Amino acid sequence: MAAFCLSLLTASSLLSIAHSRPAPPNSPPAIPLYEVATTTTSGLPSPTGSLKFIAVQIGTQNYTCNSTTGTYTAKGALAQAFDATAYLTKNPNTLDSLSKTYLDLYTDEPCSKAPSDDVQADDRCEDRANSKFTHPLPVLGEHYFTSTGTPTFDLYAAPGHPFMYAAKKGDVHAPSADDVDWLYLVGNGSTSNRIISSVYRIETVGGVAPSSCSGTGSIYVPYAGQYWFYG
Ligand SMILES: *[C@@H]1O[C@H](CO)[C@@H](O)[C@H](O)[C@H]1NC(C)=O
Ligand SMILES: *[C@@H]1O[C@H](CO)[C@@H](O)[C@H](O)[C@H]1NC(C)=O
Ligand SMILES: *[C@@H]1O[C@H](CO)[C@@H](O)[C@H](O)[C@H]1NC(C)=O
Repeated sequence: MAAFCLSLLTASSLLSIAHSRPAPPNSPPAIPLYEVATTTTSGLPSPTGSLKFIAVQIGTQNYTCNSTTGTYTAKGALAQAFDATAYLTKNPNTLDSLSKTYLDLYTDEPCSKAPSDDVQADDRCEDRANSKFTHPLPVLGEHYFTSTGTPTFDLYAAPGHPFMYAAKKGDVHAPSADDVDWLYLVGNGSTSNRIISSVYRIETVGGVAPSSCSGTGSIYVPYAGQYWFYG
């Protein structure tokens, strides 16, 4: 009995060590992909290459109503990226809460309720939310969709101007159905791509469309998430 209890204890402490293994000093935390691994799916693939940036992004997921089916169809997104690499390295305990903190700061801004089609005007709203964070994060760039629907990451504020036209390679449900899926995207092979070659969208909060709609029209649903870029 004592031996049995001991081995249970050992198994559970080993498990907790595996999940909270401290990162080496001055390195970012490990990417928490285990949060979306389930018994039926293996979740998202492990990263290849080296971690370049951890961004926290705020903005909107866009949808249009399909009047035939009465459901929303995803139509792209627009979000501003802030560089959280140094912040999360110093404050790894905020890994699970940072997206929610940013979504709350964003939705507290009246401008988030009426997003503009003007990218610059949207940035001012997101900048205002970031300025209210306890340690405002440096701007990294912009995430948008091209007119042909290609998800694009334009990290114009980082050295060398990292850039990626991407294609989705992995998609799993977030731990909560209230949050948009966790994704894995890779560069689409464009010669414009540089420095970054893959990205995970994880730790999402919000961004989900209502389950039904009527008529036509677009909606913009505020969301936040972490984007882990590898290159
Ligand atoms: C709406 O849904 C129908 C049925 O799935 C589909 O055939 C049609 O292409 C959709 N329309 C748009 C604009 O996406
Ligand atoms: C998404 O919504 C934003 C408003 O937040 C808008 O400026 C942008 O043009 C939209 N993009 C797409 C692809 O619908
Ligand atoms: C990648 O996406 C861009 C933007 O939509 C497109 O112009 C390009 O043709 C795509 N593919 C490649 C291989 O460049």
